[in-house]
Amino acid sequence: MRRPIIAGNWKMNKTAAEGTALVQAMMDDLLAVPDVDKVVCPPFLAVPDVSRLIQGTELGVGAQDLYWEESGAYTGEVSPAMVAEFCSYVIIGHSERREYFHETDEGVNKKIKAALAHGLTPIICVGETLELRDQGKTEPWVRDQVIAALQGLSAEQVASMIIAYEPIWAIGTGRAATASDAEQVCGGVVRAIIGDLYGQEAARSVRIQYGGSIKADNAEEIMAQPNIDGGLVGGASLQAKSFVEIVRATARAKGFI
Ligand code: 13P
Repeated sequence: MRRPIIAGNWKMNKTAAEGTALVQAMMDDLLAVPDVDKVVCPPFLAVPDVSRLIQGTELGVGAQDLYWEESGAYTGEVSPAMVAEFCSYVIIGHSERREYFHETDEGVNKKIKAALAHGLTPIICVGETLELRDQGKTEPWVRDQVIAALQGLSAEQVASMIIAYEPIWAIGTGRAATASDAEQVCGGVVRAIIGDLYGQEAARSVRIQYGGSIKADNAEEIMAQPNIDGGLVGGASLQAKSFVEIVRATARAKGFI
C-alpha cells in the first residue's frame, strides 16, 4: 500500500522565527500520528532553522521551488544542491509559479530532473483553471501537463515521485473539489496516464496528492478515496491545529487510527 503523505505548503508566509514556532507547536502531535508522512515546506529563508528543528524526527522538509542549474550567475535563484543540503522534498510547478513567474512545462521538466539528480523527491503540481473545467477540458489539460512534466524520466523515477493534483479554482478559494471529482482526476487521469506511459508498477507506486482548500472538516472524505495518497495543504497548514487535524483525518481515512 502507498504510504499517504501530507505536505504543508506555507507559500510566502512565516519568517524563520514564526516558522520554527509553528513547527514547535505541532511537532509532538504530528509525530504521534502513525503511518502518514508529514512534510512542511517553508519559504527558503525559514528552511535551515526548520530543518535543524526536525532533524532526527520523522518529519520532512521541502522547498517550494529550485532552479535547475548547478551554480553560477543566476541572481536570486537557489540550486538543487543548496536545497538538498536541508530538504528531502521540493515542490515543482505550483500553479502560482506557473501563473505569476511564467514557469513553463519545459522548465518544470528541467527542475524535476535536477531535483532527482540531487536525491530530492519532487512534488509536481498540475491542475486546470475554472475556465478549462467549464469547457470540459480538465482531462486533456491535466494529462498533457503530466506528460510534459515527466518527459524523459524512467519508470523507476516516476514511481518514486509525488504528483499533486491542484485544480486552480480550488486553491485558496474555500471551494475544494468534491471527493469524487478529485478521485476521478487523481485516479482516472493522472494514475491512468502514468500506467499507459510508464507501466502498471509505476502507476501503483507513484503517490498522488490532492490540493485545494483542504481543511480539517473535508480532509477525511477526500483522503478516503483510493487513488488519493495525501494532500498538499496551503492555508490550513499555517496553523498547528488545522494541520494536525488534517494529518489525523488522513490516518483515519486510511484506517490507521
Ligand atoms: P489552499 O489549501 O490554501 O487552497 O492551497 C492549496 C495549495 O496551493 C497548496 O499548494
